[in-house]
Amino acid sequence: MKHKNIVILTGAGISAESGIDTFRAAGGLWEKHPVEQVATPEGYAKDPELVHNFYNMRRAALKTVAPNPAHEALGRLETGLAEKGGMLTLVTQNVDDLHERGGSKAVIHMHGMLTSMLCGVCEHRWPYFEDAKADMSCPSCYVQNTCRPDIVWFGEMPYQMETIEAALAACDLFVSIGTSGAVYPAAGFVQMARALDKDTLELNLDPSQGSHHFHESRHGPASRLVPEWVDEVLK
Ligand code: OAD
Repeated sequence: MKHKNIVILTGAGISAESGIDTFRAAGGLWEKHPVEQVATPEGYAKDPELVHNFYNMRRAALKTVAPNPAHEALGRLETGLAEKGGMLTLVTQNVDDLHERGGSKAVIHMHGMLTSMLCGVCEHRWPYFEDAKADMSCPSCYVQNTCRPDIVWFGEMPYQMETIEAALAACDLFVSIGTSGAVYPAAGFVQMARALDKDTLELNLDPSQGSHHFHESRHGPASRLVPEWVDEVLK
């Protein structure tokens, strides 16, 4: 095998064919819901009910979608690499649970998850699948009006950055799938990987903003490109 230790970053494009809207396309989520209203601490402080309703809608939509062949291929890759003595670190910017439902066991959700709630006071986290309300109480510290979606908003630090940077340092290939390369720090992973002399590959519908940083860039729908590439890696 040419590459045994692989880090993958996924974005909204991998879930697009499952029926989840991307952010920056025409008619995408940020066109219908202004970022500063629904994805910043300031927006939440101003109107927590509006913010909860936005994430309630997206959480409820998870029940109507299913993983596509791209998610399933990455589940297969995790198992296949482990059987050959390799390792996959799967990092996603997505807050859906389609990687897990597609068979991936270890997923780093650097922007949080729709199916998790966070107490802004005691930082307790708990699985959450229903509609949330601004006046809910934390099940751990019992303080009211402090429960927020466990989502990393603009201006906040993404989760598990040290783990991701260590995985990039230890890998031999970095692959970016279905992301526009518009949001840092994730958009900078390719430059980090290049500085560490790693191979880099992009799989995206069209060239991303950082496409020129990659050694190779393949364009097309993730449901086709990802299974094809996984077959190449595992053959
Ligand atoms: P974007 O909406 O910015 O980009 C989605 C990318 O996926 C684009 O480059 C599309 O061309 C590509 N794409 C669309 N359909 C595809 C398909 N079927 N197959 C392959 N690629 C496809 O979404 P992200 O890059 O994920 O952050 O956005 C990054 C972050 O910005 C999100 O995590 C979110 C957002 O603001 C937060 O909310 C903190």
